[in-house]
Amino acid sequence: MIEGAFTHARSGIRYRVYAEGDQATLSFERPGGRSVAGRVSLKYFVGSNTRGRTFLFTIDRFLYQSPINYYARARVWDMSPGYADLTSMPLNHVVDQTCLFCHASQVAMPENGTTNRFEGEAFGQEGVGCERCHGPGSEHVRDPKPANIVNPARLDYVHANDTCIQCHSQGKPLKNPIEGKYYDWPVGFQQGLNLRDFWELEEHKLGETNFMHFADGTAHKNRMQGNDFVQSVMYTRGVTCFSCHDVHGTGNNADLLRPAKDLCTTCHGPNSPNGPHAASIEAHTHHERGSRGSECVACHMPQIAQTIADINVRSHTFKFITPSMSDEYKIPNPCTNCHTDRDTTWARETLRTWAGTSPWRVN
Ligand code: HEC
Ligand code: HEC
Ligand code: HEC
Ligand code: HEC
Ligand code: HEC
Ligand code: HEC
Ligand code: HEC
Repeated sequence: MIEGAFTHARSGIRYRVYAEGDQATLSFERPGGRSVAGRVSLKYFVGSNTRGRTFLFTIDRFLYQSPINYYARARVWDMSPGYADLTSMPLNHVVDQTCLFCHASQVAMPENGTTNRFEGEAFGQEGVGCERCHGPGSEHVRDPKPANIVNPARLDYVHANDTCIQCHSQGKPLKNPIEGKYYDWPVGFQQGLNLRDFWELEEHKLGETNFMHFADGTAHKNRMQGNDFVQSVMYTRGVTCFSCHDVHGTGNNADLLRPAKDLCTTCHGPNSPNGPHAASIEAHTHHERGSRGSECVACHMPQIAQTIADINVRSHTFKFITPSMSDEYKIPNPCTNCHTDRDTTWARETLRTWAGTSPWRVN
């Protein structure tokens, strides 16, 4: 629990988050003519410690999202996305299964006639429970054997990756709206079924930049690792999300199997048929070993997919976005994203001098 306070300039409302006993509490107050004041107990949180958190609270058992977030990287409290321009105190942002599908497990059904009022707890488990990736497990708990539980590692690469894509993607249910309501999660899907029967990935028109995509189809926002990864050559070769991540937890950033700087070279290297096709790693990266510019993720996974506030996550297409793609389609360029004092003309000219880089593909 991180305490803090700030005044939102536009609405003039002062927010404070503090502990009252063992209960996290949000208070809000605006002095003067259009005064407001009140407080709610924060009941659940959604999101990780490493990037950002939003909080949920209940009023009369109806579940709502708090108008403020904690932004971990900047270490500040500020308005939640979409709330920055408000001039009033919004306590009506309903939390229904929209968020809970992905951010919690064993989500309860709301009471009849409501979308966000829950008889007991709104969900049984914070975060992602075993069954979300291993399928229903009660049989397995009674009689543990490999045959009555899904092991994603034994699925074909499409279904193996769908284990993660069910939550790590933007898209819509095949039938939307469902009973008059729009959803942005695969309603009805559970591990073991075929995701494609429930879900389609967000459409993209080449050349069009919007909230979700850059013009070439690369993700523009977070939670789109699936949309990105299916475009990659690695996906078609049977690499899965869990070839790189171990979701049961590792000591590494983003639960990587190995730290990012060592991960890629478990499958890649000068003598590997997987490339890169160069005499040495340095001959491919043109940066000294150990330099930030020599890490595979520097050029192949730029941080360009926007999360909350100014925090970006990494692109998962793994392709190199060339200077001319950046110029023509306004996609951030990995070279100049890091070399912020240079421009794409410099990057293009530099790349032309790099032996081993094809001038037909990269310019
Ligand atoms: C977010 C998805 C996800 C969640 C949640 C998850 N797992 Fe897994 N689990 C996987 C994947 C993917 C594999 C196969 C690849 C691997 O081993 O990393 C796996 C493999 C395993 C294996 C190894 C199976 C074998 O035969 O080698 C065990 C055991 C396991 N998980 C237990 C659990 C338990 C218990 C939980 C809950 C506490 C859990 N998992 C939660 C995705 C998940
Ligand atoms: C039920 C939904 C769900 C499923 C299934 C799921 N994830 Fe996630 N994952 C999330 C959410 C939500 C977060 C955001 C962090 C949080 O709130 O815990 C997350 C966070 C992550 C992170 C970031 C962790 C960090 O410490 O920064 C990684 C990596 C990740 N997931 C990989 C995977 C992989 C790989 C799979 C498939 C094996 C998978 N996830 C399946 C919902 C899911
Ligand atoms: C289809 C699944 C899905 C739905 C629905 C969803 N999220 Fe997420 N959300 C994720 C995943 C996966 C991540 C982490 C991966 C990433 O940020 O790229 C995430 C990240 C976040 C983060 C950033 C903090 C962090 O852990 O990285 C916040 C805050 C958040 N979600 C809040 C919400 C809220 C509030 C709702 C409901 C309005 C919601 N999410 C609905 C899947 C989902
Ligand atoms: C080839 C390896 C590889 C594959 C495949 C891969 N990732 Fe990642 N992923 C990474 C690396 C490297 C990072 C960056 C970690 C860092 O910044 O230290 C990362 C970061 C993430 C994060 C944290 C957000 C961020 O960018 O900081 C999430 C969530 C995630 N991956 C989910 C997924 C999902 C879901 C899939 C499959 C659809 C997937 N990854 C496939 C290597 C991979
Ligand atoms: C589990 C093994 C594995 C790991 C780990 C892995 N790769 Fe790959 N990668 C492959 C395979 C297989 C191919 C396809 C090679 C081929 O068929 O030409 C590939 C291809 C690629 C390509 C060429 C794809 C294209 O679009 O032209 C790039 C770039 C790449 N990987 C980057 C990375 C990066 C960056 C990492 C680390 C974050 C990584 N890889 C980790 C197995 C892996
Ligand atoms: C994540 C950061 C990062 C990325 C991405 C990156 N570099 Fe660098 N680059 C560095 C750093 C740090 C140095 C200085 C240390 C060194 O020489 O390795 C450097 C040095 C250089 C130099 C020599 C010194 C200079 O400024 O003239 C050139 C040329 C260069 N980079 C070009 C590129 C090009 C072209 C790309 C894209 C293909 C690129 N870099 C991508 C971080 C980066
Ligand atoms: C400084 C930028 C930079 C860094 C760092 C970098 N690459 Fe590349 N990579 C490129 C460029 C540019 C291309 C050419 C893209 C194309 O042809 O479309 C490329 C292409 C590739 C390819 C496909 C072509 C081939 O030769 O097989 C693979 C595989 C690859 N890189 C893997 C890696 C791995 C693994 C690392 C880390 C050891 C890495 N790259 C680090 C810039 C970089």
